[in-house]
Amino acid sequence: MHMEHISVLVDEVLANLRPAPGGVYVDATVGHGGHARALLEREPGIARLICIDQDSDAIARSGAELAAFGSRVVFCNQSFTELRDILRQAGIHAIDGIVFDLGVSTGQLKDPSRGFSLYLEGPLDMRMNAGAPLHARNLIEQLDTNELADTIYRYGEERFSRRIAAHIKARQADITTTADLAMVVSEAIPARFHPRSIHPATKTFQALRIAVNNELQALETGLQAACDALNSSGRMCVISFHSLEDRIVKTMFKRWAAGCVCPRDLPVCACGCTPRMRIVTPRAVRPGSAELGANARARSAKLRVAERL
Ligand SMILES: C[S@@+](CC[C@H](N)C(=O)[O-])C[C@H]1O[C@@H](n2cnc3c(N)ncnc32)[C@H](O)[C@@H]1O
Repeated sequence: MHMEHISVLVDEVLANLRPAPGGVYVDATVGHGGHARALLEREPGIARLICIDQDSDAIARSGAELAAFGSRVVFCNQSFTELRDILRQAGIHAIDGIVFDLGVSTGQLKDPSRGFSLYLEGPLDMRMNAGAPLHARNLIEQLDTNELADTIYRYGEERFSRRIAAHIKARQADITTTADLAMVVSEAIPARFHPRSIHPATKTFQALRIAVNNELQALETGLQAACDALNSSGRMCVISFHSLEDRIVKTMFKRWAAGCVCPRDLPVCACGCTPRMRIVTPRAVRPGSAELGANARARSAKLRVAERL
């Protein structure tokens, strides 16, 4: 089954990452290999490209796609939270650039057996790493109604989180597929509040996926490891798809750029922290109209770039 994934903001990533001959780069979320291929084609002199994905299908797929580029391209079926170890094991001390393209790929979304899609019936799974112990059904079973409501509110920004959680817990025994869950969530939200442009269960699915994959904590850990690994002038490009991710990226970039973390009312700096990164994109870069017309997934994409001092 071939499921094409259209990579977003590729030209913008290339222009900002500025791959150079002899450089060492990381694609922290290789997925279908779109950004990795673009980097390798733009700069044939790249010395090493480390391609990471926690999904073994993505590693197998991108490994086959990029085989022609030879042993300069190294694949790691791990989480980008383990970047430090990945680089150490590859004998790399520092990198010249890294790209994160967050979220799920088309391959993951369109494969019903992965349980990510609202529209395709499949098991309630949602794990990016199919070997991880917690899937969406476990999560629903393990959380009590309040915890489930908090999860749906926090990670889905869903105003009907309490009603949805109560409906899910009441019908838990009957909910075994994505279609069951989508139906129960839709029924929990009064029809007059059903959004026009998205499925009523979209936010709940997003929340459960974020919780199952511990995505926000992973993002913070991955970004910190990337900042630590970058050479001076090395750049980090991060593409996010929803406000929770973007907020983390923006906040971490600001913190690195500011350096000092002392309370504002302290007359002199006591922490001694100095700026580590320069923000290259004061405003997030959005796809242009041509890209938006060609790729619906690009609608919510935001690219932020920072450079190591
Ligand atoms: C949007 S896709 C990337 C698509 C890719 N840039 C391309 O152009 O083909 C996101 C990928 O990131 C992976 N991913 C998400 N979180 C991850 C993490 N913490 N560590 C490693 N991979 C992760 C997902 O498994 C998925 O394959």
